[in-house]
Amino acid sequence: MASKKWTQNDLPDLSGRTVVVTGASSGIGLVTARELCAHGARVILAVRDVEKGRAVAKDFVGSFEVRALNLADLESIRSFAAEWTGDLDVLINNAGIMMAPAFRTIDGFELHLGTNHLGPFALTNRLLPFITDRVVTVSSILHRRGMIHLDDLHFDSRPYVAMTAYQDSKLANLLFTLELQRRLTESGSAVRAVAAHPGIARTNLVAHVRGVNGFVNSLSQHLCNDAQKGALPTLFAATQDIPGGSYVGPNGIGHLRGYPIVHATSRRATDTAMARRLWDVSADLTDTGH
Ligand SMILES: NC(=O)c1ccc[n+]([C@@H]2O[C@H](COP(=O)([O-])OP(=O)(O)OC[C@H]3O[C@@H](n4cnc5c(N)ncnc54)[C@H](OP(=O)(O)O)[C@@H]3O)[C@@H](O)[C@H]2O)c1
Repeated sequence: MASKKWTQNDLPDLSGRTVVVTGASSGIGLVTARELCAHGARVILAVRDVEKGRAVAKDFVGSFEVRALNLADLESIRSFAAEWTGDLDVLINNAGIMMAPAFRTIDGFELHLGTNHLGPFALTNRLLPFITDRVVTVSSILHRRGMIHLDDLHFDSRPYVAMTAYQDSKLANLLFTLELQRRLTESGSAVRAVAAHPGIARTNLVAHVRGVNGFVNSLSQHLCNDAQKGALPTLFAATQDIPGGSYVGPNGIGHLRGYPIVHATSRRATDTAMARRLWDVSADLTDTGH
């Protein structure tokens, strides 16, 4: 499906719909939450820093709430979901970190895997009984360089490389979407699992990137999308009538920038056997999704 120049101005009236956006305190999540809110949705900004969330949303027009959610803490995810009542039309798994130094979540997971994959995995499974329309998970073109080491997910044996950890977690996002869609279809559910990526967008994501990588990153960011445009694939994936399992990203050269279209996923991201195995391991680690 192509949409040459789809923008936030093409969003439908979202009155009556409820959307959770994780990581809505910055970058792509902030723009996503603001636009959905401006088009009539009731938006829950699920953020790890509630004061920051309230501050960034102070100029939002529409209906919104700010709630605490730390994706690097399974207990925080459990309590966020335990407080949920009523229908949730769309869950947007947007929050993420990139190239952080070696660190463990409170539950002992490598920080990228924990924050970018296992946290959203647990959140989605806990909220799934309430979800009526779809789950959108934000991945990255860098997933193409990712690899899932099921025998060493937390870098216990391999030397820690921050970029590798990020890439692997973004591949996990797509494998998760694939397997979630398979399970939804199998159970006869009409809920869709879709994925999006922003190309490259100027946000706070590269706060940890230093040295040559940092220089290349900041240069490329100035040649690529801003956060407003980087949010378009997510907004498209969250609101347009696209098939479950779709992967939405920018239409420009190398999919680095441009307007949202559905495009093909990589071979690694369509490895159904790996998607199943990763699901099983993630279910054991988070005690959700069994
Ligand atoms: N920007 C790009 O070029 C690019 C490219 C490919 C993919 N992506 C993906 O796009 C998504 C959004 O990133 P962004 O570029 O908008 O980066 P960003 O500006 O750094 O925003 C990331 C958001 O995630 C939140 N977050 C981080 N750790 C969290 C945790 N433990 N619990 C809850 N929230 C947490 C941050 O909260 P705080 O505000 O408290 O820090 C922030 O709101 C990520 O999944 C990223 O992988 C971005």
